[in-house]
Amino acid sequence: MSAARQFTVQPGGRLSGELRVPGDKSISHRAVMLGAIAEGETRVSGFLEGDDAMATLAAMRALGVTIEGPEDGRLTIHGVGLHGLRASDGRLDLGNSGTSMRLFCGLLAGQRFASELIGDQSLMRRPMRRVTDPLAAMGASIQTTEAGTAPLSIEPVSGLRGINYNLPVASAQVKSAILLAGLYADGETVVTEPAVTRDHTERMLAGLGYPIEQSGRRVRLHGGERLQGGVIDVPADISSAAFFLVGSSIASGSNVVLKDVGLNPTRTGVVDILQRMGAAITVRPTQSRGGEPIGDIEVASAPLKGIEIPTELVPLAIDEFPALFIAAACAEGETLLRGAEELRVKESDRIAVMAEGLRVLGADVEPLPDGIRIRGGGLQGGRVHAYGDHRIAMSFAMAGLVAQGPIHIDGCAEVDTSFPGFVSLASQAGLDIQSSEGQ
Ligand code: S3P
Repeated sequence: MSAARQFTVQPGGRLSGELRVPGDKSISHRAVMLGAIAEGETRVSGFLEGDDAMATLAAMRALGVTIEGPEDGRLTIHGVGLHGLRASDGRLDLGNSGTSMRLFCGLLAGQRFASELIGDQSLMRRPMRRVTDPLAAMGASIQTTEAGTAPLSIEPVSGLRGINYNLPVASAQVKSAILLAGLYADGETVVTEPAVTRDHTERMLAGLGYPIEQSGRRVRLHGGERLQGGVIDVPADISSAAFFLVGSSIASGSNVVLKDVGLNPTRTGVVDILQRMGAAITVRPTQSRGGEPIGDIEVASAPLKGIEIPTELVPLAIDEFPALFIAAACAEGETLLRGAEELRVKESDRIAVMAEGLRVLGADVEPLPDGIRIRGGGLQGGRVHAYGDHRIAMSFAMAGLVAQGPIHIDGCAEVDTSFPGFVSLASQAGLDIQSSEGQ
């Protein structure tokens, strides 16, 4: 992997064909973590072999868990039970992955050994007090830097106690960290979120036999029960499908079918938003596996119009906004997003970075503290920077379909964190994209 990887996309073209994007990142992390602390074997298929989920897998191995694979997306995890993890010999390096760091923080807070969590430059800048504060209230001992960032030093404590916690931000990572700590806590842990966020942790805990109660924005569990290993089929990642939903919508003559995509209603905000903008998207649910609904999504090009994005959809599409901003720039009229300040603390400040790149491409954008205003009107070519943020790189790549000149995108190496094989799948679908290693 090179930090200097760049994409060049030539204008024109359209997308077509039947595509299967890689496995869901959120579900892949949870499959490894929950499979590891379950009793007996867990067999996983469709696992995302991207850098982020591989960082979780490597960390679990360092904590003493035997995991076979991945081979063609298949893993066999030999679960060690809730109390079977062992101290790692060294620090756990979680690379670019916020999900790994925050979920491990919860999982390791109640262990009888110490751990230290680190990551790459981007991850070491991201806010961690949102997890360490509630975990401290449960009795955990976790040191951050003065700025509240990693490295995180987790010291063993004599025990954790359950907590009744109202999440100040809508974050599935924070919710999941508290629930994972709650497995090790005395008594009941209750988490209430300000808005519904992805519930893969809750669904997978239930699927592996852990008693958990979910109603609306509240979830509760008692510590000290058991997880039983099982079978986990990871669906294709709707967050990766999102680039093709946008690309096919904006490039006239496109028609793509995305196969076996996870359709969990806490993740489908991107479909709702695009449909409100006029996109021609048909969702065909096919099955439900391990508590996660799956289906095919067909998308054909259609004229898009700008909309005001309803705030309740924000957490349900939180990772898809970079792609949606491209759709908005190609739509007729104005799109307004508010209530999305969380975008500023993702792998990059996604409001600032997208606004910078869209301006280079001639778009009329006004970044706001908690969102953005985009007046649609088409894009020209130019040189933009993804600043090492995978979703920014892939979003600008799709813009290349309709821009009036080539788009050069610098800082694309991290695409492998969530979407290994993006360049070849996108080329196969009809995008004229080259990847090269710059200096
Ligand atoms: C994730 C939750 C979201 C999302 C991230 C994955 C998860 O983060 O942006 O890509 O797997 O729980 P937040 O919890 O910070 O919103």
